Amino acid sequence: MTRSVVRFLLGEEVCTLTDIDPTATLLDWLRATRRSLGTKEGCAEGDCGACTVVVGTPMDGTMRYACIDSCIRFLPTLDGCQVLTVEHLAREDGTLHPVQQALMDCHGSQCGFCTPGFVMALFALWLNAAQPDRGAIEAALQGNLCRCTGYAPILAAAERMYALGDRDADRWRTGGVATAARLAAFQDGETIALQHGGRRFFAPADAEALAAILLTHPDATIAAGATDVGLWVTKAMRVLDPLVYIGRIAALRTIAETAEQLELGALVSYTEAWPAFARLHPELGRLLRRIGGAQVRNAGTIGGNIANGSPIGDTPPPLIALGAEIVLRKGDTRRTLALEDFFIAYGRQDRAPGEFLECLRIPRLPPDALFAVYKVSKRRDEDISALCGAFRIDRDADGRITQARVAFGGMAATPKRAPACETELTGAMWTQATTERAAAALDADFAPLSDWRASAAYRSQAARGLLMRFYLETAGGESLAHLDDARSAAHA
Ligand SMILES: Cc1cc2nc3c(=O)[nH]c(=O)nc-3n(C[C@H](O)[C@H](O)[C@H](O)COP(=O)(O)OP(=O)(O)OC[C@H]3O[C@@H](n4cnc5c(N)ncnc54)[C@H](O)[C@@H]3O)c2cc1C
Ligand code: FES
Ligand code: FES
Repeated sequence: MTRSVVRFLLGEEVCTLTDIDPTATLLDWLRATRRSLGTKEGCAEGDCGACTVVVGTPMDGTMRYACIDSCIRFLPTLDGCQVLTVEHLAREDGTLHPVQQALMDCHGSQCGFCTPGFVMALFALWLNAAQPDRGAIEAALQGNLCRCTGYAPILAAAERMYALGDRDADRWRTGGVATAARLAAFQDGETIALQHGGRRFFAPADAEALAAILLTHPDATIAAGATDVGLWVTKAMRVLDPLVYIGRIAALRTIAETAEQLELGALVSYTEAWPAFARLHPELGRLLRRIGGAQVRNAGTIGGNIANGSPIGDTPPPLIALGAEIVLRKGDTRRTLALEDFFIAYGRQDRAPGEFLECLRIPRLPPDALFAVYKVSKRRDEDISALCGAFRIDRDADGRITQARVAFGGMAATPKRAPACETELTGAMWTQATTERAAAALDADFAPLSDWRASAAYRSQAARGLLMRFYLETAGGESLAHLDDARSAAHA
């Protein structure tokens, strides 16, 4: 069963759309079609946050709200959701929402381009967190860039807003159950199938329908969070036909923990994965804080980060070091692959036409294993890696290394293990001398490129330095993670 109608709520209003361009963005629709001009366009690539809106999805009988970048969100992917823009915050009598009032009081309304985005990022924080500390506030604002005045008044507003209203009485919180019930009526299990200007769009409601669509259209472009795919349209002007959006498939969004492993469906977003990562692998949790901003982490999926095959994607190196496997599905046939084997060459992955990534399995570490991941980028926040190094060491009772898994991003055409380095480590004691030999061996593993993010020489030296840092931190030395926090405080 298919339908060609897309239904969602804009605030409280039901929007029923037909004949829409599959890759029209929510931002363009809001501004050009609805003439709802509060939401602004800055970069059109998910970087600046000017276009931030809050999207609600029904979850366990109520609503879960998250901020996203409307400039890279395709309009038909909002089916079954609620969209809140800056126009929905003030009361009809003109009373400002506590978020808006706090920004006014603290002189945080600095320019007309960014302020609506800051309002909506703070509104998402208000909806989701009762008592955020300074770190949580900073994390909530990572995806909103100001190039004029600075962040101090905005951070002050984030702290003040809680004194200006009762969160529990906020109409978007109290109305969650009723809104979820309204949206439940839109969930009919049908595949959305659109055609517009000769281009096709499919949004299956379950994995079986997805598998069938991909068998019929094996070369279709898959979109999950579209934090990469969105830019192919807004920046690269690519025509995507057909486009298959997988974000409606609940079965791909599951998180399952057993004694042996953590299994994540391909659609699990960074935000959704964060609690499990932070608990099971705190280093991995810390890395997520360095990926994009809140808007990107709410939309972007770990599956998309793997499937795009980028040499500088941040999750493949640590997942390879942890020994993760992926499950690929075509029709009813599944195969399991060690993650490192998925990356064949630049722009080429071991994914057959019609196949899709179904889930990811991350084994638990033995209790005495050592693991760390480090991202090196020019800016701490919202920047792409120059390189990312991940290290795992298993040892026997005598302290001898029984298994070493070392993986880097940004050092080769794909995320890649370091066999020469691993050979130096395996069988040796975890000492400074061993680490120095293993670090030198990295030169045999990688011949990195120079680009605008870093020179080849810098990358090689930094890679050696990261391995040494791993040794120093795990051999009883002090963790240097506090350096990130110190930098964070300095930036505030
Ligand atoms: C402002 C900004 C900041 C960013 N910062 C970072 C960063 O710090 N670190 C980082 O690593 N990345 C970063 N990214 C890149 C991006 O957010 C990630 O790669 C993200 O994980 C992609 O996930 P997605 O769900 O949005 O994928 P999409 O854009 O939907 O898809 C990405 C690719 O994966 C394919 N795909 C997706 N799901 C599947 C599936 N289940 N099966 C088969 N193929 C699939 C798509 O066809 C496409 O080729 C950033 C992006 C933006 C816009
Ligand atoms: S316009 Fe800059 S993030 Fe959307
Ligand atoms: S608030 Fe817009 S540039 Fe500073």
